[in-house]
Amino acid sequence: MNPTATPARRQLHPPPVPASPFPYHPGSLLSAQDLTLDCVSHILARARCRILAKRRVALLFYESSTRTRTSFELAAKGLGADTTLVSSLSSSIEKGETLKDTGLTLRALGAEAIILRHNSSGAAWLLESETRLPVLNAGDGMHEHPTQALLDLRTMLAHLRPGTETLTPETLAGVTVTIVGDILHSRVARSNMVLLPRLGARVLLCGPKELLPELAAQAGPGIAVERDFNAALHQSQAVMMLRIQAERLAGQQLDLEEYKANYQLHGPRLAAHAPTAIVLHPGPIIRGLEVTAGVADGPQSVILEQVRNGVAIRMAVVERALTASQQGGRA
Ligand code: CP
Repeated sequence: MNPTATPARRQLHPPPVPASPFPYHPGSLLSAQDLTLDCVSHILARARCRILAKRRVALLFYESSTRTRTSFELAAKGLGADTTLVSSLSSSIEKGETLKDTGLTLRALGAEAIILRHNSSGAAWLLESETRLPVLNAGDGMHEHPTQALLDLRTMLAHLRPGTETLTPETLAGVTVTIVGDILHSRVARSNMVLLPRLGARVLLCGPKELLPELAAQAGPGIAVERDFNAALHQSQAVMMLRIQAERLAGQQLDLEEYKANYQLHGPRLAAHAPTAIVLHPGPIIRGLEVTAGVADGPQSVILEQVRNGVAIRMAVVERALTASQQGGRA
């Protein structure tokens, strides 16, 4: 397909990559902070085509994943790229190979971009600086998950601001998004907290002190803490439920019955306090804990739309990564 065939296509040309004070590849996506609103608009608008035939993309996963790994793989393959998966459980990582050496090995094997999920915050930045390849952060520890925030945004816009093409700092003015649960360990929450206020949304963080330190209220403009879930729901047009990350609790004790009483999203609570809000969840869902099956499968749930939007968003960022490298790489 020729992307310059029609005026409509011409509008889809990527916006210029702004000069960066950091020495990262212009195609990398490490943090939601890296994206100008023009870039976000472009990623959301980008049409699909097989423009990456025979380009090589490596998926490097140190943590388990269903949605992110599968959708990145389908996205890269859908664009015509060849993909290879390296997982920590079936590679020389098990034998002690470092992230640096694994990255350099993938580059030597011909990888032109690396999609990385890692249990350490900041790993994507390290891999980027060692390999000098575009790196797409598919979740780094408790830090960021920028493509999740982008697919969440696409989902919210479709319901709350349908027809939006160009994003501005007012696009989500008047919208309150409540993020509920294990904020402390959530890279999804952090990337959404970076992106949503830049579009004018108000972000309410809701959860018990063990999973939501009071300090979070100072995370940035447009972000506040509301401990009372019902009060938060009353104000919300979108509510994003989070899983309790048992693997990151590190001995922390949490009374699950008390948690459910205060923070579980169930049908009567949703009907009483937010009967028109959309319900999001990045997955995996623990049914019966943070959300009931009735809500997860109910009419206000957009959880599977989020999953579907993941493929489109990841196509756009994989294309961005490889197009930037094609155009000369690092500035
Ligand atoms: N949302 C998300 O990152 O899900 P996975 O862990 O299944 O990739």
